[in-house]
Amino acid sequence: MPFYHKLGRIPHKRHITFQKESGAYYYEQLFGTEGFHGFSSLLYHTHRPTQVKHIGEPIDLTPVAALDKHVKAQMLRGFDVKPTADFLDSRVIVLFNNDVNIALAAPQKSMTDYFYKNADADEVLFVHKGTGTLKTLVGNIPFSYGDYLVIPRGMIYQMHFDTEDNRFLVVESFSPVLTPRNYRNNFGQLLEHSPFCERDFRAPSELETHDEKGDFVVKTKKENVLHEVVYGTHPFDVVGWDGYNFPYAFSIHNFEPITGRVHLPPPIHQNFEGHNFVICSFVPRLYDYHPQAIPAPYNHSNIDSDEMLYYVDGDFMSRNHVEKGYISLHPAGLVHGPHPGAMERSIGQKETGELAVMVDTFKPLKLTQAALDISDPDYYKSWVE
Ligand SMILES: [Fe+2]
Repeated sequence: MPFYHKLGRIPHKRHITFQKESGAYYYEQLFGTEGFHGFSSLLYHTHRPTQVKHIGEPIDLTPVAALDKHVKAQMLRGFDVKPTADFLDSRVIVLFNNDVNIALAAPQKSMTDYFYKNADADEVLFVHKGTGTLKTLVGNIPFSYGDYLVIPRGMIYQMHFDTEDNRFLVVESFSPVLTPRNYRNNFGQLLEHSPFCERDFRAPSELETHDEKGDFVVKTKKENVLHEVVYGTHPFDVVGWDGYNFPYAFSIHNFEPITGRVHLPPPIHQNFEGHNFVICSFVPRLYDYHPQAIPAPYNHSNIDSDEMLYYVDGDFMSRNHVEKGYISLHPAGLVHGPHPGAMERSIGQKETGELAVMVDTFKPLKLTQAALDISDPDYYKSWVE
């Protein structure tokens, strides 16, 4: 995040001695995500954070394309993905390319016997259902319905759920996830025309420090392979840290919509961006107010963009027969637009209660077999009158 945050105890200057009451030293770690030039934080560990005792057999999680190089619009019934006890097992990749993996997950159990680290992707967990706490080595963040949890690569974390009824949309990004450049000044501060400001972002608020030795499993994902790395000390042994690299939460309910007299294009809904993709938030808002305005979008062909829309809540104005958790995919190369009747229905309407998350990618998305298993095979013909 382009703002400074700190928690716990840190020495008055970086890279100097920092001692415990016993006289022993704390161990400093520079935690950066892009070489030495990107965001970084300085962490102070109770134990050396390098004590690997054992590495288990790797598990290959590389997604496999069941449908590639296609022009077929898709509608996936996201809630058909079955709840699964374990958080990592529950993540079902449905769409992917070289920039992102997009998964659905309905985990039931809190992570208590292992920790997780995604070594090469920032993760965005959108909370569709459930409450709980994201626990990380730099502090905890409570979450609830509508939160985006943005977790930079390398952040060791656990998810703790209050109940078994949880649903997430997961975006793994192989580049840093940032707020849109056009909403920030040269120093990273969010500008006045941004649909959100720094107060809307929740940084870690509570730092848990565990001074424990034993066997601690950190399941570490690297190049789509999961490695079970056993450490000799508890990963959450940080007594203090400061810097710019940390996880945060942003609630979609805090996204302030931008509206106009006539229809405004999707970039006004943009919330985040990464290399070759954007994430947009469609939130309840007043419709366009020109006396002849058509609130439904015009037909459009962003010839180079795949458009994935995840339906969260409310009636989605431009689509017929959409339910919560559905995912539509409108691939690059074809024109798409409102369903028959949707444009006419929208005229004269004053507001919408729709809530949706859109991921537009500038490279085509491939579908896994898991996606085809929950897809409507006739959706691509649903515009025929
Ligand atoms: Fe579109």
